[in-house]
Amino acid sequence: MEQVYVSSHPLVQHKLTLLRRVETEPKKFRELVREITQFLIYEATADLQLTDKPVETPLAPFAGKEIGDRIGLVPILRAGLGMVEPVLEMIPTVRVWHLGLYRDSKTLEPIAYYNKLPPQADVDLCLILDPMLATAGSASAAVDVLKEWGAQRIKFLGLIAAPEGVKRLREAHPDVPIHLAALDERLNDHAYIVPGLGDAGDRQFGTG
Ligand code: PRP
Ligand code: URA
Repeated sequence: MEQVYVSSHPLVQHKLTLLRRVETEPKKFRELVREITQFLIYEATADLQLTDKPVETPLAPFAGKEIGDRIGLVPILRAGLGMVEPVLEMIPTVRVWHLGLYRDSKTLEPIAYYNKLPPQADVDLCLILDPMLATAGSASAAVDVLKEWGAQRIKFLGLIAAPEGVKRLREAHPDVPIHLAALDERLNDHAYIVPGLGDAGDRQFGTG
């Protein structure tokens, strides 16, 4: 599908298998979320703009480059939190704005409870971070909030998605590329991704 990028890197697939295992405890789970996110951010930032940055090496002047895009990270609480640190390690200049959304277990509708966006949308690219794209209710709501705020360029980074969620997000926001570690089979009757990994928030924070 157009603008849907699923990593085929062997290390991502290896680590994702460990992440899915029911025996993987929260400490190891958080470590794997960090490691997989580093691969995804590498792939998702391949089109960043560069600007000239002349430097001196010990031997000669060098016509260097630096990242020109101003980037805002938007983790969706809670589960997106574990994806923040690995991006900060790779791109220390990003700004982080938390969005609190949870999915109502009966209606499956996203409920917004926290928004830390500043008044002005003064970034060139917003990266939404959330490990799970299930019905895409949460992701679509996050994109709605960012567009209303004034964001021009938005990407979604997730670990695992269901085809139903990808379809819905693509239809609602065809301008938002989706970067994933895996595209799974389906949603179950409770709108959990199958085979998936269970509840990403609970598994990171030991609250299941
Ligand atoms: C999970 C996940 C997404 C959402 C995905 O969060 O992290 O935000 O569900 O489901 P959707 O695509 O159907 O909206 P959850 O609501 O469990 O909140 P939590 O991160 O606080 O556990
Ligand atoms: N949220 C999760 O954490 N996991 C799913 O499979 C679906 C929604």
